[in-house]
Amino acid sequence: MMISNPIYTVFDKMLRREDKEELLKQHGLVIWMTGLSGSGKSTLAIALEKELHKNGRLTCVLDGDNIRSGLNSDLGFSSEDRIENIRRIAEVCKLFVDNGVIVISAFICPTNNLREMASQIIGSSHYFEIYVSTPLAICEARDHKGLYAKARSGEIKDFTGLTAPFDIPLQSSLIIDTSAISISDAVKRIMEKIIGRIK
Ligand code: ADX
Repeated sequence: MMISNPIYTVFDKMLRREDKEELLKQHGLVIWMTGLSGSGKSTLAIALEKELHKNGRLTCVLDGDNIRSGLNSDLGFSSEDRIENIRRIAEVCKLFVDNGVIVISAFICPTNNLREMASQIIGSSHYFEIYVSTPLAICEARDHKGLYAKARSGEIKDFTGLTAPFDIPLQSSLIIDTSAISISDAVKRIMEKIIGRIK
């Protein structure tokens, strides 16, 4: 149902993204990582943020730990909740990118429809998708959080890759398998790809 609230946006009176970008001497970009639980998204996001910070860039990492424990603590893992999870995250990314910040987002974001929705909300010119393609067998063998074991035993339902779907991404600009290359090499590859879009 469409809810129609009497809200009047004031964006036309605000400073523009370009004004913030000039101040920060960078272009805003959302680096949108998608991949299974345990694929290395958060590790990669943290390492990438450190490299960008060293380069004098203002960044923000968004991942399950900081979003699902706060802003999205009311959401679970049904397909409806995953849509709402990604919708809110994409809106937050848009707020940051409209202020010139480089956002690194690290969520499973399991379907191509969800990725498409995120790209549309953010704006495709500010959206750079990375598929963290570490194979399921490796993610499950790592099982840092013990969740795959719980999903196998039936204690956790709708677990991505086992009992809930994960579509192979179709539009990613970069594919990184963290079981095949080191995190520092992965960061180098990402930096090569994005450098032209952030300065
Ligand atoms: S998403 O599918 O909605 O994009 P999100 O990235 O926010 O997922 O959260 C995934 C994290 O939640 C996983 O890394 C894992 O730690 C935890 N988790 C808990 N239950 C599930 C589940 N049923 N499926 C996938 N991840 C889960």
